[in-house]
Amino acid sequence: MANTNIIPHQHKITKQTRSKQYGFKPLLLWYTGLSGSGKSTLAGKVEEHLFNDGIATYILDGDNIRSGLNSDLDFSEISRKENIRRIGEVSKLFIDAGMVVSTAFISPFEEDRKTVLNLVGATTFVEIFVDCPLEVCEQRDVKGLYAKAKKGEIKNFTGIDSPFEKPKNPDVYVNTHEMNLEECVEKVLNFIKPKIAL
Ligand code: ADX
Repeated sequence: MANTNIIPHQHKITKQTRSKQYGFKPLLLWYTGLSGSGKSTLAGKVEEHLFNDGIATYILDGDNIRSGLNSDLDFSEISRKENIRRIGEVSKLFIDAGMVVSTAFISPFEEDRKTVLNLVGATTFVEIFVDCPLEVCEQRDVKGLYAKAKKGEIKNFTGIDSPFEKPKNPDVYVNTHEMNLEECVEKVLNFIKPKIAL
């Protein structure tokens, strides 16, 4: 509930001031997809390119954030909502700080992704659907979690006994089963470069 006794302070250095000084526009790259689809790998490679071009970047990553800021949250629907809500708010701060921030969370619910879009504004939000067939993610099983979920050792696992709502109209679509990493990186960069140019 909004506290009426809290009045946000308007600081003199604005997002626009920062943008002018830094030479690029801030942006949120929101990667969404199943566990093992390749979100973090792709986000990392795209970041490398941007960073080498002198862009200030940062990645908020599912497993990293869940072992710190969001360590109190589990994988129930309500916790996943809260997970994404907090990430949205943190992303907004990074955007305000003038950076190109990437997030790599399953973010399975359409409604929560929409909430983040509305929070940061459509012009600052890029939805990147990192698609990969469930069977392929299961075969990859980099962390061994699908095997555990199938044995019932992990509950509410996305794709097994918890849903993933595919983005209907993502800004960028990549399929990591059919495209190699370089192709995916290029597709993302081609879309975002004009958006961060001043
Ligand atoms: S989200 O659904 O709330 O967006 P998030 O991206 O933060 O998920 O975390 C997903 C990561 O947590 C997975 O890549 C996996 O390593 C781990 N994980 C642990 N339990 C689960 C689960 N029940 N469902 C999905 N991922 C899980």
